[in-house]
Parts: sequence; C-alpha cells; structure tokens
Amino acid sequence: MLKLLTVIGARPQIIKAAALSRVIKHAYSALVREVIVHTGQHYDPQMSAVFFEELQIPQPNYNLQVGSGKHGEQTARMISAIEEILEVEKPHFLLIYGDTNSTLAGAIAASKSNVPIVHVEAGLRSFAKRMPEEVNRILSDHVSTYLFPPTQTGLTNLLNEGFRADNRPPYTQDNPGIFLAGDIMYDNCLFYSALAATQSNIVATLHLEPNCYILATVHRNNNTDEADRLNAIFKAFQTLTSHHHIPLVLPLHPRTLKQMDALLTADLYKAVQENPFIRLIDPVSFLDMMQLEQQAKLIITDSGGVQKEAFFFRKPCIVLRAQTEWTEIVVSGSARLCDADTQLIVNAYSDFEQSPPVSFLPFYGEGKTATTIVDILLASGATSNYAVTGNDVRS
Ligand code: UD1
Ligand code: UDP
Repeated sequence: MLKLLTVIGARPQIIKAAALSRVIKHAYSALVREVIVHTGQHYDPQMSAVFFEELQIPQPNYNLQVGSGKHGEQTARMISAIEEILEVEKPHFLLIYGDTNSTLAGAIAASKSNVPIVHVEAGLRSFAKRMPEEVNRILSDHVSTYLFPPTQTGLTNLLNEGFRADNRPPYTQDNPGIFLAGDIMYDNCLFYSALAATQSNIVATLHLEPNCYILATVHRNNNTDEADRLNAIFKAFQTLTSHHHIPLVLPLHPRTLKQMDALLTADLYKAVQENPFIRLIDPVSFLDMMQLEQQAKLIITDSGGVQKEAFFFRKPCIVLRAQTEWTEIVVSGSARLCDADTQLIVNAYSDFEQSPPVSFLPFYGEGKTATTIVDILLASGATSNYAVTGNDVRS
C-alpha cells in the first residue's frame, strides 16, 4: 500500500486536494492510503470547512491550527509540526500543491527528513520574487522528486532552471522526474461545474441575471496592503458599475475585508458601500463559485485559480496584476493584465465588450490529472524499494 501524506492549508489547496482524494476513493482505495495534514493556514469556516463538507474531502488526519502570522513565524510553526508527523507516519511521499507558505513548509520538512516530495503545480513562475508565492514555488521545486507542471510553460520554466526532461528512474531529489500531466483544477472544474448546475442557486439567490454581471475577487497581498493599489481597484469597480449599470459581485477574502476598512479613503469606502450595483458578499462555497463564474459576463481577479477558471468557462478576464504565471491565457487574448490601474481596467472592459475572446485552446490537459499523478506514483516502485533507500525516515 502506497502511503501519501498530503499537506494543505490555504483555500485553493483544499479545493485541489478534492480531485486526488476523489480518485483515490473511487479507483485506488486498495492501493493508496492518503494521510491529510491541514496546516490551519486558513481557518474561517468559509475558507476551509465548507470545502471539506461540500467536496466530500476526508477530514484531515492532522490539523496543525497554525493560523495567521508573519511569514517566518507561520512557516516555522508548520515545519516543526510536519517534521514530527513525518517521523510518526513514515509516508512514501509528501505531496504539496502550488505556492503558499503551507507548500514551502511541507517542502522544507520533507526534504530535511529525506521523504520524496511530489509537487503538483510545479514550474509556474511570475518572474517577480517580491511575491511570496514566487519564492515558495522556486524553493519547493528545487527540493522535489516528482514535479508535475500543469502547462508546457511550467515545463519550459523548469528546463530553463536546469531540470532535465530525460532523467530516468529511480527518481531522487538529485535526479527528479518531471511529468506534464495537465492541471488538476481542470479535473475539478469539469466535475464540480456539472454538480453546481443542479446544486447551487446562488445566481438566483443574489437576484442576478445570467451573463449580466461582473464577478470579481481581490486578495493578492500587494493589492490589499498598498493603499494606492486598493483604492485604484475599487475606483475601477465604481466607474464600471456606474457607467455600465452592471452589478459587480465581490466575494470578499477576509484579508481584503480588513484592509478595505483600513486603507480605502473614507469617500470611496462610503461610495462603494452605498453603490447598489456593488455586491460585497462573504466568501462562497466552491459550487457557488462555479455557478458565479459560469454565469458571469466577465471576471476581474488577482487570483491564480480564478484566472484559469475564467478561461475554462470561456469568460473574458481582467487580471489585477502586472504579470501572471498563467501566461497562455494572456497570450491567447482571453485575459488582459491591467495591474491595479483604474484606466486600464475600465478600457479592458470596453474592449472585451466589443470583441469578446474567441480562442480557448486546450492548454490544461484533459481533466485526468489526478489519475495520471496516482498512476505515476504507483509505477515508481516506492512501496517495494523503500527499504534500500537507506537514509529516509522510514528506515
Ligand atoms: C494565502 C497565500 C496565497 C494564496 C491565498 C489563497 C501565502 C504566502 N499566501 O494568501 O498565495 O493565493 O492564501 O487564498 O501563503 N485570514 C482570516 N481568516 C482565514 C485566513 C486568513 O481572517 O481563514 C486573514 C488574516 O488576517 C490573515 C490574512 O487573512 O493574516 C492573510 O492570510 P494568509 O493565509 O497569511 O495569506 P492569504 O492572503 O490568504
Ligand atoms: N473560490 C471559492 N470561493 C470564493 C473565492 C474563490 O471557492 O469565494 C475558489 C476559486 O473558485 C478557486 C480558488 O478558490 O478555485 C482560488 O483561491 P484563491 O483565489 O483564494 O487563491 P489563488 O488561486 O490565488 O492561490
């Protein structure tokens, strides 16, 4: 039996984990045992528990309850606790998703314990190391044994950093295997968008007309924590809604809610609160998000996941960043980088209204990424050869 220890902590990782847990439950329960460690990086019920319930993810075997904090403090608490768990559980692999502090903590703890790391969503780069996520990605990739870039761009980035596509098994940290397996969120979007069609009523509940509203999300640290940027983004929301008389739905990340209060000018904050077109709502469940995305006219976001979901659902997307890791969607014309520039955002909306995007090539695989990952790990022979690896925590 292959023992996989999965580390998750932030909202998008909990959602990603649903895809792997689902295929293990339905097709590999006799071959794979997954132990889930939730770091507790996200902890509000709407940022965590809702996804376990709705997406039927097994309850975590461990919850580290690390909570919020400065980067070093938060990550250090996670590393220390994960190291202890690795000693007890002795897994064949530690699996991490994406680029959060929970990802990095898993990578550091496992690499120092000689547990092979599986990095799902490897190779993505923004080429902006001021982003905490960029540092987390690079460091995690460079100690991983199995790397699963979701796109050709991710694979190319790894090759440019010296990774080799022609490495052969047995894979190790020094001889890692790279596999272009597609995007695990595409698996999830195919599966859960079908469920959402019958199980979510959010569009009707919010009294929205399909294809007649904007969906927006904002949570990237530079957008929420820099007053100029946050004000410019909300000014764009004000301008768009008042010029076009179109509702804008904004499920608020808790970080953004706190910073609006602290950083928006009093006039703008009041105007936003009194604007009947701007609908500030709590974070929504994933099925509700699937519905909101599918029925939106256009999506405005700084989220990595939401940018891509806009593409899956063939929606034009205004990206509130200067660069993105998901370059394909910008190059193919369905998304536009507008940073936190009010005028660029307003112009992009008008341009997309006049010429909606038409090109949606299959950059993200076929929606079978979770199965491919499990098959590759099972084929690694980890369960039979671990006794000869000598220096790992299981010996
Ligand atoms: C984190 C990730 C980011 C990811 C995002 C997904 C890092 C460095 N950042 O950013 O890459 O895109 O998650 O949503 O790992 N808070 C709450 N309740 C919660 C969680 C957070 O109130 O359940 C508030 C706290 O004030 C906290 C702040 O949000 O300080 C930021 O949370 P944190 O997890 O540090 O970063 P995110 O901005 O969520
Ligand atoms: N999401 C959600 N409810 C919300 C906002 C986002 O379910 O209110 C989902 C979204 O569909 C996507 C994921 O959360 O799958 C993205 O998470 P987030 O934007 O927090 O992080 P990022 O992808 O930028 O790391």
